[in-house]
Amino acid sequence: MVKSSKTKKVAADAVAFLEVLSTAGVILTSDNEVINQSSKAIQKGLVEYSKLTNSELQELVNLTWKDKQEHKSELYFQKNFKAPKQYFAARATMLSEELVILLVEDKTEAKRLDDTRRDFVENISHELKTPISAISLLSEALQLAVSDPEQVKKFSTNLQREAKRLSSLVSRIIELSRIQAGDLQGEIESIDLADVIAETVDANSFLAESRGVKLSFDAQPGAVLKGDRQLISMALKNLIENAVLYSESNSQVGVGLSVEGDFAEITVTDNGIGIPVDQQERIFERFYRVDPSRSRDTGGTGLGLSIVKHAAQNHAGEVKVFSRVGLGSTFTLKLPITHNANEGMEQ
Ligand SMILES: Nc1ncnc2c1ncn2[C@@H]1O[C@H](COP(=O)(O)OP(=O)(O)OP(=O)(O)O)[C@@H](O)[C@H]1O
Ligand SMILES: [Mg+2]
Repeated sequence: MVKSSKTKKVAADAVAFLEVLSTAGVILTSDNEVINQSSKAIQKGLVEYSKLTNSELQELVNLTWKDKQEHKSELYFQKNFKAPKQYFAARATMLSEELVILLVEDKTEAKRLDDTRRDFVENISHELKTPISAISLLSEALQLAVSDPEQVKKFSTNLQREAKRLSSLVSRIIELSRIQAGDLQGEIESIDLADVIAETVDANSFLAESRGVKLSFDAQPGAVLKGDRQLISMALKNLIENAVLYSESNSQVGVGLSVEGDFAEITVTDNGIGIPVDQQERIFERFYRVDPSRSRDTGGTGLGLSIVKHAAQNHAGEVKVFSRVGLGSTFTLKLPITHNANEGMEQ
């Protein structure tokens, strides 16, 4: 136990200082009794009954008692069974002759971003390998086939297709990494959703026509959102493209807009091939395709819907799907609006 009031004062001063920082701090005596802690340490559940709750953190403190040196570690921490797992960077060091201070920083978000980035790079490397090795094989085949015009035509057509795929993969990756960074990065402006819908439908009318799909929209002006116009338009473009590409010819794709309270809902409906219910969550994952062989024909990279999901999240919105195999799909982009002229309300 601590006898000296001087020691207690040292501990109290250190904790007072920690209160202004984002770091959680715990101060322990040589018998590993906690004599003081910052409020962050209590919130995080680092201390209970004057003891550290986590054995890894205790071990760090023990090491410091042993050699009086600073010791650092990174670890996963769970306050209780139900609490989410957190990732902490911890440091134990001597505060005075009689006290060790343990400083704990919450790195959960940084770790999550880091893991996402690492996963992303691994996926990308894997996905890039396919068209690159196809291009390499096709160019070899082309060299060997110089005297056969039919073969040359066939290989060069395939070569072109793979090069196109590689190029769309690279531009998708750039788009996705831009929005994955989290915040809105483009210019923030007031956007009338009906305008964006009209523009994006128009930009996709050629694609729809070439596939024999009737593309139409019905959207009243007045639902206004504050955001990145380019991102919203990119998200909508991806949904319309999917609706067209995953439909047979002679089918229809409709884009609608409705306002429900503080939210606008943009719907893109097709009567195409549909998506099996057990895969409806997975389609928003990067590189996920229900039928990779069909995507080979459409040139799909499996990144479109993860771009839509991130674009929606960056605007505090979400994307949902309702679909039945053989009947068709409806994707709904739900976004918070600031103004609905049709009800004359301003929020
Ligand atoms: N409207 C739809 N109808 C049926 N299946 C769909 C529809 N939209 C998406 N899918 C399925 O979800 C998968 C993922 O879609 P996503 O847009 O992310 O990738 P993609 O279309 O394959 O490639 P791209 O990155 O070029 O858009 C598609 O491969 C397809 O299997
Ligand atoms: Mg797509």
